[in-house]
Amino acid sequence: MDNRPIGVFDSGLGGLTVLKALKIALPNENFIYVGDTARVPYGNKSRKKIKQYSDQISKWLIAQDCKMVVVACNTASAIALESLRMKFSIPIIGVINSGVRRAIHLSQNSHIAVLATAATIKSDEYGKQLKALNSQIIIKNIACPLFVPLVEEGLTNDHLSLSVIKMYLKSLKNSKFDTVILGCTHYPLLKDPIQNILGDKVKLVDSGNAIVKEVEEFLMENNLMSKISQGIFHCFVTDEPESFDKIAERFLQTKLVGTSHIELF
Ligand code: DGL
Repeated sequence: MDNRPIGVFDSGLGGLTVLKALKIALPNENFIYVGDTARVPYGNKSRKKIKQYSDQISKWLIAQDCKMVVVACNTASAIALESLRMKFSIPIIGVINSGVRRAIHLSQNSHIAVLATAATIKSDEYGKQLKALNSQIIIKNIACPLFVPLVEEGLTNDHLSLSVIKMYLKSLKNSKFDTVILGCTHYPLLKDPIQNILGDKVKLVDSGNAIVKEVEEFLMENNLMSKISQGIFHCFVTDEPESFDKIAERFLQTKLVGTSHIELF
């Protein structure tokens, strides 16, 4: 039994979708969420910067006495997870591995497409992990850099987002790809229009949701579950908290109070 909080971080707001899923599945756990709102997006940054930012956030979460860290950001998971694990001794889990396993489980013809930020696609981390589990798999990587700003602006289901989605997914329409990984924290908010465009037969994998089971199993196997029913969560951001609260309410579908500002070094 371990009542210390679980640290969750993302480049910004998107990881709140992961926090929401974790809070529902693990109601006794306490969470500390960090959104690096001053430096978002990570998706078009260099590997060096993504590693440096992820490193600073993890160090800060560990200083808050977190029992484990969940890297909710796909870009940070793709680029920094390995170096974080080498550097820090507490358990650190990223979103990619669980998304990969869910996709392999769902696909019936081993044709899997990955939608993600430019940095995640360039790292080919999804591709490498998919191939490691099934070398026969056919993969299509699609970078969708306009999805994040659309979601941040709240444009999730209007004519503008529909045209952008259609543009990126053109090669998937009427193709053999039966499973599509939403490999970015923001993309689940575009799930409905993506599903409409691709049709009901295509299975969408929300890598943020997929990680919940992995975290739950990890806590159980290692006897790290919190036994005191608290369910407290605190959000910290690197830019002004006010605008974060407003958009975060949309992601979490709950009212937020008391988000604090932090400086990371
Ligand atoms: N959180 C990022 C991810 O999941 C998306 C936003 C960004 O580019 O920082 O890849």
